Amino acid sequence: MTDVRFLRLILLGVAALVLGAAAPAPVESGGRWHGSYFPNVELTTHEGKKVRLYDDVLRGKIVAINFIYTSCGDVCPLDTAQMRQVHTLLGDRVGKDVFMYSISVDPENDTPEKMRRYMRTFDVGKGWTFLTGKREDIALIQRKLGLRIIDPKNLTDHDTRLMLGNEKTGQWLKRTPYDDPTVLANLLASTLNNHAATQVGTLAAYKTAGEVKNLSRGQYLFQTRCASCHTVGGGDRLGPDLRGVAAARERSWLVRWLKEPNKMIAEKDPIALALMARYRNLPMPNLSLNDDDAAALIHYMEQQDKAHAEMGH
Ligand code: HEC
Repeated sequence: MTDVRFLRLILLGVAALVLGAAAPAPVESGGRWHGSYFPNVELTTHEGKKVRLYDDVLRGKIVAINFIYTSCGDVCPLDTAQMRQVHTLLGDRVGKDVFMYSISVDPENDTPEKMRRYMRTFDVGKGWTFLTGKREDIALIQRKLGLRIIDPKNLTDHDTRLMLGNEKTGQWLKRTPYDDPTVLANLLASTLNNHAATQVGTLAAYKTAGEVKNLSRGQYLFQTRCASCHTVGGGDRLGPDLRGVAAARERSWLVRWLKEPNKMIAEKDPIALALMARYRNLPMPNLSLNDDDAAALIHYMEQQDKAHAEMGH
């Protein structure tokens, strides 16, 4: 997909949901979702507390829900990192008027203890609850939300889409882990909240969407695959600030790192291990990038470095 088309799709998606047309299909017999639609199954939180899906998790709330498993090394870390950016943008509102949930699709393995460890690795903040439960109950929740059920033998194929909803009004939206966290935060804070006037963040995505017609491949990849965890010159996020990295590291090391960081970590590459130790042992995910992607990303980082140098800081 070209970058312009991608942006247009985002804008179309937003327009569609404003018209209330973007809700996923499975609305039962013309009614709103509510208690008769959602199964009131029992789940266990990361703190080991028993809760009910409808009564405790959904009822009357504005929610963001994603499905993860803690041993996932490909796209779910990106998903969690994106949710974390949304959390940062919403700040104190999380746990008060917006609730965030990550539900395990590997419930036999993801005990409350394992989920707590994952939350520490991702530096997860207050008001965001991780949930596990019975496999068949979790599959039912996915089905009710219009998501694909995962095959337990093929976890990497799970549906990583994120559901945003307002249980009271019955509006539900499906997004992907590549959506801009600022857009997601505003959907939760404003659109789903009766279009409340509050704007979260700077809405940079919309501002630049009008102007930057030719988002470069590198910039597009960076924004959709890296920006939840990295900035170039804007400080650390989950991963290090990448300012100067393109010049500091050997080209071959960098290219390989972008393509298969998991293998380099497994081979105990000394630079990789030293970095990991500084970032709560969060392994950078393998995002299935190819040589062209890596080259475009390195070019983008170099350009950012040059821009910083030209601005004299
Ligand atoms: C889920 C978070 C996450 C995502 C997504 C992510 N990274 Fe990382 N990255 C890290 C972490 C954490 C480290 C530090 C090493 C480690 O812990 O594995 C790192 C390290 C790096 C390094 C090495 C820095 C140095 O000092 O040499 C580079 C380069 C890098 N990432 C680039 C990228 C690019 C480009 C993308 C997007 C294609 C990306 N990362 C996506 C978390 C992430």
